[in-house]
Amino acid sequence: QIYSVILAGGIGTRLWPLSRTYYPKQFLQVNGHSLFQKTYLRSIEMCRPDCIFIVTNSLHHFLVKNQISELGYQISDEQILLEPSGKNTLPAITWAVTEIQKKSNDARVFVFPSDHLLGEDAIRELKQALPLTDSQIVTFGIVPSIPHTGYGYISPGENLQTGFKVREFKEKPDARTAKEYVDKGYFWNSGIFLFSVPVFKSELTKYQPDIASAFEKGVVWDELPSISIDYGILEHSDAIAVVPLSTSWSDLGNFNAWYEISEKDEQENTGDCVAIDSQGNFVTTQDRFAALIGIQNTIVVETPDALLICRRDMAEKVGDLVKGLKKKN
Ligand code: GDD
Ligand code: MG
Repeated sequence: QIYSVILAGGIGTRLWPLSRTYYPKQFLQVNGHSLFQKTYLRSIEMCRPDCIFIVTNSLHHFLVKNQISELGYQISDEQILLEPSGKNTLPAITWAVTEIQKKSNDARVFVFPSDHLLGEDAIRELKQALPLTDSQIVTFGIVPSIPHTGYGYISPGENLQTGFKVREFKEKPDARTAKEYVDKGYFWNSGIFLFSVPVFKSELTKYQPDIASAFEKGVVWDELPSISIDYGILEHSDAIAVVPLSTSWSDLGNFNAWYEISEKDEQENTGDCVAIDSQGNFVTTQDRFAALIGIQNTIVVETPDALLICRRDMAEKVGDLVKGLKKKN
């Protein structure tokens, strides 16, 4: 039996002011559906609707329900796991696996982040990895385009029936190491995982025994450590495989990434605005009409209570800005 777990608890601070605590990135629309909805539709291709679990922050219960019913599907409350607080991805995944285990001891589980765009043909490639789950936790690799320091890096080793054994997994290396990894032909970790319940549990018990036993005893959520599956398991385990994905992939991490995938007009602007002698801009406003004259490579984002104007090549800094704002409040 195949199950799917959708992680939707992140906040996405680098897309402020569009992405907010109450309305984060994964619930924003990109060309028609939200990233969360696209992820749900991908899950529907993998398994039955009653085998899909969503793990999210309790603030987002109704967003999740509404966005699923907009798609014409139903989800029961037992399938939406509401975390009292964010503890990063490992506790979130472990909770979902604990629920899945109550239904099936030998389930295969896909874990999907909900903050990505993925090409259509990904489904077929993801399914091809299923035979590896007898002994491996499967990661999916993306060929890197730049030495980005916000991703996990995967070094492929010996060939498996599909994909490779993982020789080394390194989460968020520094800039110099990232460059070295790109030159050596490492993959980026896409953030999608596939495993069987028994293999996941045995690796969890080996490398994070405290989390494993907390869930066995009846978990006190606030006492759990905050840790991602990448740091918690993937960096340590020797039962990891990687299957390269050839489809397009974008972790719409900041407005520049969003600009890259958006449709553009003849002047390479995206969004609804009038532009004179202006090129390479990303504009989104809520109710107001926007006009640009002589503006290049700039991000303009307007919401009812905030206005962001930012150079496109500095889009990554929006995260720092939000950290600063949170401290002030
Ligand atoms: N339920 C829940 N609870 N979901 C969470 C939590 C949490 O506490 N924290 C993060 N998530 C969700 C996010 O919404 C996102 O969909 C996914 O889990 C990944 O979390 P991120 O916080 O976005 O991780 P990252 O981008 O820093 O790194 C991960 O993804 C990269 C690819 O985008 C790692 O897996 C990297 O290795 C990987 O390269
Ligand atoms: Mg991310």
